[in-house]
Order: sequence, then C-alpha cells, then structure tokens
Amino acid sequence: MENVVVLIVGAGPAGLATAACLTQFSIPYVIVEREDCSASLWRNRAYDRLKLHLAKEFCELPHMSYPADAPTYIPKALFVKYLDDYMERFDIQPKYLTSMESSKYENDKKCWSIVARDMAEGTTMNFVAKFLVVASGENSAENIPDIPGLHSFPGEAIHSSRYKSGKSFSGKSVLVIGSGNSGMEIAYDLATHGANTSIVIRSPIHVMTKELIRLGMTLAQHLPLNLVDNLLVMATKFIFGDLTRHGIRMPKMGPMNLKSKTGRSAVIDVGTVGLIKRGIIQVQGSISKIMGNIVKFQYGDEIPFEAIVFATGYKSTTNMWLKNGESMLNDNGLPTKEYPNHWKGENRLYCAGLARRGLAGIAADAKSIADDIKSVIGSMCG
Ligand SMILES: Cc1cc2nc3c(=O)[nH]c(=O)nc-3n(C[C@H](O)[C@H](O)[C@H](O)COP(=O)(O)OP(=O)(O)OC[C@H]3O[C@@H](n4cnc5c(N)ncnc54)[C@H](O)[C@@H]3O)c2cc1C
Ligand SMILES: *[C@@H]1O[C@H](CO)[C@@H](O)[C@H](O)[C@H]1NC(C)=O
Repeated sequence: MENVVVLIVGAGPAGLATAACLTQFSIPYVIVEREDCSASLWRNRAYDRLKLHLAKEFCELPHMSYPADAPTYIPKALFVKYLDDYMERFDIQPKYLTSMESSKYENDKKCWSIVARDMAEGTTMNFVAKFLVVASGENSAENIPDIPGLHSFPGEAIHSSRYKSGKSFSGKSVLVIGSGNSGMEIAYDLATHGANTSIVIRSPIHVMTKELIRLGMTLAQHLPLNLVDNLLVMATKFIFGDLTRHGIRMPKMGPMNLKSKTGRSAVIDVGTVGLIKRGIIQVQGSISKIMGNIVKFQYGDEIPFEAIVFATGYKSTTNMWLKNGESMLNDNGLPTKEYPNHWKGENRLYCAGLARRGLAGIAADAKSIADDIKSVIGSMCG
C-alpha cells in the first residue's frame, strides 16, 4: 500500500502538464500509465504524416515553449521530442505498465482508495491518495460503429489509430468512414498512394485551411465570435466554393461557435477537397449495410471495397475504473459541467484534457488543477 498526495492517471500531454504544474509548487504526485511509454497516442497510435493541426502558439504545455526555430505546425516527431524534453525538464517519471483497475472515495478516511495492476508482474498495487486527477484522455478506446453485416466483410478493416500510411493500400479500393481531421487526411494519404478512395461524409462539416483556423483563433481573442465566424465562412466560401454538390454540406452554426458550444472542430484541408472536386476521391453518404465485400449506401449504391478504415473517433473508458465520479463525469465519461467549470468534481477529484479543447485546453486545466490543489493543501495545513 502506497500513500500518495496526488495520483495522476495517464502520462499523455494532460498528465505530464499536470505533473509539471504540481512540481512548480513542490507538491508530490505519482503518475500511472498503462503503456510502456508516455504519450502513446502520439508515439504508437498516430499516422506517419501527422502534424499538429493547430499553430504552435496554441499547442504549448505550461512553463515550456517550443524552440524558437520550430515550424508553425509541429510534426509528430518534433512534438514527441518536445514531450521528452518536457519530462526531463520537470523530472517526470511515470510508473509505466500500470493500469487503473478501480478507484473509489472512502468517506470515512476522506481519501481515494485505488487499485492498479502492474502489467509486467501481473500483480495488484494499492494506493491511497488525497487528490485524484483523471488524465486518461478522450481517446482511450477505439470507437467502431455497429454497422449491420460488418462481420461479413472479408477485407482488412482497421481503426484510424492503427493506420500508418497508404503505401500498403496502393491499387486497392478503400472506404474511409468518418470525416473529421483523421478521416479527411487518411483519405488524402490513401489517394496519393494510389488507392481508389471513397469517404463517407454523413454530417455537415466546416472545411477550412489551417491558416484560416489560426486567423480565427487569433481574432477570437479580441472580437465577438459571431463576427469572426462570419469572416471565416465568407473566406472559406471564397477559397473552396460551394461544396454541396460534392457531398459536403456546411453546418448552420459558424466554426468558432460550433467548437465552443459542441466541441466539434472544423476540418483542416490538407488537399482532400481538391481531390474530391477532381473526382479522385468519391464522397458517399451513410452506409445502410455491408454484405461481404459490398457496401450498400443509403441512396442505393452498392460498391465493392477491399479495405475499410474507421476514422470514427474514440470513446472514454474512465467509467470502467472510476467509482464515485458522478460529480464530474457523465455516463460517457465526459465532464458534466460546462467549460470552464468542467475540471473539478467533489472530494478532490479533477480531470485534465476532457473538455475537447486540445492542448490549449489541457494547459489551462493543468494550471487550474495545480492551483486548486495548492490552495486546498494550504488550507489543510494552516
Ligand atoms: C490524430 C490526432 C491529432 C490531434 N491533433 C491535435 C492538435 O494538433 N492540437 C491539439 O491541441 N490537439 C490535438 N489532438 C487532441 C489530442 O487529444 C491531444 O493532443 C492530446 O494527445 C490529448 O492528451 P491527453 O493527455 O488528454 O490524452 P492522451 O494523449 O490520450 O493520453 C492519455 C494517457 O492515459 C493512458 N491511460 C488511459 N487509460 C488508462 C488507465 N486505465 N490506466 C493507466 N493509464 C491510462 C493512455 O495510455 C494515454 O497514454 C489530436 C488528437 C488526435 C487523435
Ligand atoms: C473506383 O471506385 C469507384 C467506386 O467508388 C468505382 O466506380 C470505380 O470503378 C473504381 N475504379 C477503379 C479503377 O477500380
């Protein structure tokens, strides 16, 4: 049994940022991570050509900037290097291969009682913590929709987190399901590697350039969101034209409002739209079912495919191990309270990185959490 002041679950950017902020106040913590490395999403579950979607000034963790000569849009390898440097700078040493099994609040002892599994030894570990920080990410388990007949599909069907490059799909007919940033970029990667590529775009999306998003985020610091949204929509219409006839509809709400009210991001075009306009990538509507290698679409088309990539996002698994977390998380494992009050629950329970606000949101959460823990500890001692 180990007594700790703060237990942090997850050594992704959110856990590391929280650890660094606690270190600034000399507050001791333990950080547990189920994988054998930090930031496994970035090291092991991201495609080769991935760069940070947002400009670097919106992607810094607390207390450490990117090198001055870093490119505006940080490539995956450089981001991983930044995290390694960050860990060294703040002397962060996670307990790896340690997976949370359960944690519940002991009302009589006023602390969190935690069971974790040492995955290397196959043994159980027990912790007692005053403070518990959930930093296990919005991306902890693959979300694959339940499509009738999917089990009958004979080809390769993978989640986007296992997709590395289009090289191995050259010459094949591939269907990408999902039109967020991952889906749109993977479709582009497939097509440019010579796969006959189709993409399912079901809901309306804002397609923008990364420069426009940067401009929008910068303007939003000074101007009302509605005004920024009007500018962005005008600019995207000018740049991309009307995409409705290519199967891409625009949401009624503007991109900045949509992000702030629903957490849904605009999609950054990496060249996909051009390929769609030229008919090199085909856009499809909803799937009604799969019969062997044939995918049947809502409007009656029946098309054979050799592979499917599910860019259908992730789901949280926090509720599988967190008991007594109702004050903070809903049944889907996401914060109940609205931003900016989402990061704190009852009984010294916190979450970092669950508000769908990317790395900037993570940095803000980490600071708020460390400040709050500091003030609670201060009041306990004084
Ligand atoms: C493809 C992709 C591109 C992105 N691009 C950007 C971008 O450009 N800019 C931006 O701001 N954001 C971006 N994001 C958002 C992304 O979520 C964050 O950048 C960041 O990785 C989230 O950090 P996190 O620490 O909250 O979660 P994660 O990075 O998922 O880390 C959580 C950690 O917790 C561990 N864990 C989970 N469950 C347990 C358990 N039970 N026990 C122990 N450990 C556990 C996991 O193994 C993982 O290492 C992107 C996301 C994806 C998927
Ligand atoms: C590519 O896929 C489309 C269906 O999306 C199909 O109509 C077309 O014949 C395919 N082209 C080749 C060269 O296989």
